[in-house]
Amino acid sequence: MTNTNLGPKMLDMLTQYRAVPAMYRALTGLGAVKQCAEKDVAKILGIAPENVQHVLEGFKDWIKYAMSDFLHYTSKLLDSDEFEDSYWPRMSEEARLVTNLEPFKVDVDKITILDMGAGNAPYRKNFRAANNKSLRYIAVDKRYTRNRQVPEVKNVSLTLVCGDTESYRLAHPLPAPNVLFLANFLHCLQDIPAFFEEILPLLPELKVIKILEVKPDTALDFCFDYHMFEHSRGQRFEAEQMDSILNSLDSPSFKAESLGDYHVMLTVEL
Ligand SMILES: C[S@@+](CC[C@H](N)C(=O)[O-])C[C@H]1O[C@@H](n2cnc3c(N)ncnc32)[C@H](O)[C@@H]1O
Repeated sequence: MTNTNLGPKMLDMLTQYRAVPAMYRALTGLGAVKQCAEKDVAKILGIAPENVQHVLEGFKDWIKYAMSDFLHYTSKLLDSDEFEDSYWPRMSEEARLVTNLEPFKVDVDKITILDMGAGNAPYRKNFRAANNKSLRYIAVDKRYTRNRQVPEVKNVSLTLVCGDTESYRLAHPLPAPNVLFLANFLHCLQDIPAFFEEILPLLPELKVIKILEVKPDTALDFCFDYHMFEHSRGQRFEAEQMDSILNSLDSPSFKAESLGDYHVMLTVEL
């Protein structure tokens, strides 16, 4: 196996790993969560959604046991100091699956990017390569600790802000961003329109919003519904949801561009 096909193989394995909570949810979940899990399990097993319950019934104790095992190790991981040391680098590796740089081009002078929920901010190098000039980059994440460091990217001047929109507002003096970048972030929020209502008044110089998300129906999305539902309590971000956001932004349109096999970039010009 070469390095080039290891990425997709990893995604397949990740999908199977996520099948355990999806199966558990399909057995024990309620309402929309159950339906979503049934849809995921149907995809994994290659059967019709109406047959999922019948198939899982025969293995329900096994699935419950596998789920306890899974939760045992997950909670150990989440409680550990090493969580960010594995989680953010894992997201950076996912960023390597992006093959199209074009959507990272930004047509503004003195590019200043605000990346909310940035983690290791792995897409800095894509913005740098696509625009071929120095950038200012403000990365905000609620998990940053005071002495957190992220890998450097040449010609990108980076400021880390620990917290959320409120911390960003208080973290003066910072250059005013003209680009808002949200990568794999919106599913973490429980009220997406409220987030935009809160953040946009803080960004008077804003020209562009770029939203990077996982494409539906790829190995990355496959089974991801469970993860999204856990975070957002059922509110799944879809491209169509941009309509209500665009109405609140008073912006005429957005465009969606493929970043490769697994990701899509939505760009809103203001
Ligand atoms: C799935 S990760 C994405 C990381 C990075 N953007 C990437 O694509 O590699 C979501 C990140 O959002 C952060 N996050 C979630 N809710 C947040 C909030 N309300 N304010 C700031 N950061 C938040 C999490 O700590 C996590 O690092």
